[in-house]
Amino acid sequence: MPRPATATGLTTGHAPFVEEARTRGELCIEQAYDLYTEENHEAWKKLYERIQPRWDRYANDHFQRGIEALKLAPDRVPRLAEVNRRLKPLTGFQAKAVSGYVPGFLFFDCLRRREFPTTITIRPADRMDYLPEPDIFHDVAGHVPMHTDRAFADTLVRFGDCAHTAVEITESIRDPQERARRLTNIIKAMSRFFWFTVEFGLMRGPKGVCAYGSGLLSSFGELEHAIESAEVQRYPVQLEWLINQGAEIDLYQPLLFIVDSFDHLFELVDRLERWMREGRLDNVAPGLPAIEESTLRSFLDAAHTT
Ligand SMILES: [Fe+2]
Repeated sequence: MPRPATATGLTTGHAPFVEEARTRGELCIEQAYDLYTEENHEAWKKLYERIQPRWDRYANDHFQRGIEALKLAPDRVPRLAEVNRRLKPLTGFQAKAVSGYVPGFLFFDCLRRREFPTTITIRPADRMDYLPEPDIFHDVAGHVPMHTDRAFADTLVRFGDCAHTAVEITESIRDPQERARRLTNIIKAMSRFFWFTVEFGLMRGPKGVCAYGSGLLSSFGELEHAIESAEVQRYPVQLEWLINQGAEIDLYQPLLFIVDSFDHLFELVDRLERWMREGRLDNVAPGLPAIEESTLRSFLDAAHTT
């Protein structure tokens, strides 16, 4: 299909190509690489150059090996096709371009298929430090290098399994209100788990405590803050705490959890699923994150298809 004449630039909040796809209801899109402007490439270059020394100090070794394996260009927005060519033989994972938010169940189901929904827009060059929504720097420089690690990749797949388990154990509840209540609690527990591990997790390693969470690895300011600041409380991960801890966005995280290894993380996801089956996620502490109607709906609708 020919692209509209207005489709220039892939800047977050100003990307007609992406916005038009969303309006048409298209979730999966092509990367449309030729739409990146020089300003878009410049934003990637600035972000990459600035954070690289902090990766050397604060990123876990698995991430560093992932960066080397993917050979991300430091000065140009990466082409997902090239990233995927290097990634697929390692773990089977693939970055898939999407037009925006992927509702909860669909997102986790993608992980189960070893597909990672990936934002293709990049933040404006004058907003390097804070962006509430993900961009390609967060998704490809922060998440995708972790997908080169077999144990981490397998953990994400297990996490996708949990979404199916949530559907399976709630679909027979006949009272619609009770079903929605149970699912909301389970989704809240899963979201908190994901937030405090995949997005903001810390791990012990040869260099001491390092970051493996992508929210940290893609943030120049927060990466250092997470490891160095005396204001941050860092605790060995405990599942019962994690699933009951409110997850606030839009601020540097004041509380972070440390895992010993990705085998440890995998074991925690296993336990999360076991607890789900035992009903131990049915009454988690109220609070953030709020579970959007579209997220709940994605789980309810999945009952007919799984
Ligand atoms: Fe993320």
